[in-house]
Amino acid sequence: MSSVISSNTPADAVATRVSIDLGDRSYDIDIGAGLLADPAVFDGLPRAAVAVIVTNTVVEPLYGQRLRDCLAGRFPKIHTVVLPDGEDHKDWNTLNTVFDSLAAYGCDRKSVLFALGGGVIGDMTGFAAACFMRGIPFVQVPTTLLAQVDSSVGGKTAVNHPSGKNLLGAFYQPLQVVCDLSTLRTLPPREMSAGLAEVIKYGPIHDMAFLDWIEAHLDELRAGDTAALAHAVRRSCEIKAEVVGADEREAGLRAILNFGHTFGHAIEAGMGFGVWLHGEGVGCGMVMAATLSQRLGLVDAGFVARLRSLIERAGLPVIGPRIDAVDNAGRYLELMRGDKKSEGGEIRFVLIDGPGRAIVRPAPDALVREVIDACCAPA
Ligand code: NAD
Ligand code: GLY
Repeated sequence: MSSVISSNTPADAVATRVSIDLGDRSYDIDIGAGLLADPAVFDGLPRAAVAVIVTNTVVEPLYGQRLRDCLAGRFPKIHTVVLPDGEDHKDWNTLNTVFDSLAAYGCDRKSVLFALGGGVIGDMTGFAAACFMRGIPFVQVPTTLLAQVDSSVGGKTAVNHPSGKNLLGAFYQPLQVVCDLSTLRTLPPREMSAGLAEVIKYGPIHDMAFLDWIEAHLDELRAGDTAALAHAVRRSCEIKAEVVGADEREAGLRAILNFGHTFGHAIEAGMGFGVWLHGEGVGCGMVMAATLSQRLGLVDAGFVARLRSLIERAGLPVIGPRIDAVDNAGRYLELMRGDKKSEGGEIRFVLIDGPGRAIVRPAPDALVREVIDACCAPA
C-alpha cells in the first residue's frame, strides 16, 4: 500500500513522497517543483563510480546539465547517452546503442542509470538496466506528465516490436522516481493533453472522487498550474502504487491500469508508431472501451457521455482513426488479438463495471465490431 509523507525542501513547492511497497524492491516517488535544483533529493541512492544519464535530443539541452549538477557530488564519473527522440525509436536497435555505450564506459554492476525524459526514455532505460550484466540499478527522472503519473512508476520496461507495442520487455523496478514538476513548464500542450489521458484513467477504474476533482480543475491542469499538477501527480501515483503493490506482475488486478490501452495500442500500431501519441490512443481508446462497457450493460449512456466530454475537454481525440481502408474493424481486431492481455487468441478488454470499478473480460467479436464502427470516423 502507498503512504504519503510531506517534507520541506528548498524547492519552490511543497514536496510530497509516495512510497511503493514491494518488499525489498520498495522505493519512493518524490514529487515537487524544483527538485532537480536540490542534490539532496538523491541522498538515498548508493554511491558508485559511474552514473550514466540516458536521455534524448530534446530533453538533454533542457535538463541534462541540471541533473549532472545534482549528481556531481555523488558520482565521480557521469556519462550521458543522448538517443534520438520519439516513439519510432523505441526499438531494439536504439536499445543496442545504449548497451554499446554502457560497455564503452566500462560500466559495472554498481553503475547507476538515470532515465531523464518521458515514457519512451524511461521504458528503454529501464529495460537496458534490467538486461545489462543481468540487472543494474536505475532511477527514473520523468519529465512528461504521462511519465510522472504512470510510466515511471511500477517497473514495466519495454521496447516495441514491428508486430506490437511493448512486446519485448521486463518487469524491473527503479531505485527511486523523482518527479520535478518544474520540468513540465516546457512540455508542449499536445504532450500535456497526452499525459492527462493517463490521469483521467484513474477515475473510472478506481476513484470517482478523483474524476470529479479532474473535471473541476482541468483548466488549471492544462494551464500548467503547479498546485493542480502536484495533486494530479500525487493522487495518480498513490493509486498506481496501491495497484502495483497488490499485483506487481499483472497476475490480475494490475490489468485495470490498461483501461483504454487495448484499443489505444491498436490505434498506435495501426497508424504507425509515433503518428498518434500514446496518450491520444489511450484517450480515444477509453471512449471505445467505455462504449463497449455500455453495450454490455455495465454502465449507462450518461457515464460514457461524461467521460467522452472530459477527454475531449482535455484536448484529446475522441473519434477513432480508420486504420484499414477495406476492413477497419477487422484490422483493429487483428491488432488487439496480439495484445499482451489476450489469452489463446481471445481479446480481454478492461471494461468499466459501474463507475469507479474495472473488470477484465472478453466480448463477442460482433459487438466489438459494432463499437469500432460507431466510434471511428466514417469511411
Ligand atoms: P515521450 O517519451 O515520447 O515524450 C513526449 C515528447 O516530449 C518527446 O518528444 C520528448 O522528447 C518530449 N519531452 C519530454 N520531456 C519534455 C519536457 N520537459 N519539455 C519538453 N519536451 C519534453 O512520450 P510520453 O508520453 O512521455 O511516454 C509515452 C511512452 O510511455 C510510450 O512508449 C508508452 O508505451 C510508455 N508508457 C509506459 C508505461 C509503463 O508503465 N511503463 C505506462 C504508460 C506509457
Ligand atoms: N501502465 C500500465 C501499467 O503500468 O500496468
